[in-house]
Amino acid sequence: MIDLNKRANYIRDVFAKTDPVLDAIEARIHSDTDPIYLRAEDAKILEFLIKFGDIKSIVEIGTLAGYSTTWMARAIPEEGHIYTMERDPERANMARQSFKDADIEHKVTLCEGMALERLKTIENKGPFDMVFIDADKHNYLNYLYWAIDHVADGGLIVGDNTFLFESVYLGIDEASKQLTNKLRPTTCKQMQEFNKIIADHPAFTTIMLSTKEGMTVACKRV
Ligand code: DHB
Ligand code: MG
Repeated sequence: MIDLNKRANYIRDVFAKTDPVLDAIEARIHSDTDPIYLRAEDAKILEFLIKFGDIKSIVEIGTLAGYSTTWMARAIPEEGHIYTMERDPERANMARQSFKDADIEHKVTLCEGMALERLKTIENKGPFDMVFIDADKHNYLNYLYWAIDHVADGGLIVGDNTFLFESVYLGIDEASKQLTNKLRPTTCKQMQEFNKIIADHPAFTTIMLSTKEGMTVACKRV
């Protein structure tokens, strides 16, 4: 039996080294809220995509404490910018502290409030080189439709947690046996739709990375 945690730890140790600033953000998440942030080995994938794709402008949906934002802000050039959306005021406050500690405030605009509302207010800054979707799972399809409309040609749409805690391929009943009250059947259907729509979209070339949580990566180029 393959031990996926050991695999992830190996990747993290060898390829995705952190530093005291990132470790402090991680510690703050663990002490203040659910530890649902992107792990370093997956954040490193974002860093790689950003550098390889020469990505400068990013919309992130779901900030939490700004852990992935910090990884991405370090990866973009000085003139690049990230608009990141957070609904929860306490998480937004944690993120502001993280951006200060990481000295990336000049590269980040924190948009506090409901993402579907706040996204409308930044549309005039687009199209964006990358949209990273990592927020409330029952709105993933709405975020995807927005991203399809506002990502630049050659740009990327990335969705985290697209295995939806294994339910996307096991089905909700089977997956629910392994989890406690996390999933709604409608959310599972939505995530299946999310993956199908972007996999089959004629304007995108799309893959799914088998990270621990699943990461769907779509490039607007065919
Ligand atoms: C959860 C959300 C995430 O974005 C994640 O990466 C892990 C877990 C959650 O809602 O539990
Ligand atoms: Mg996530």
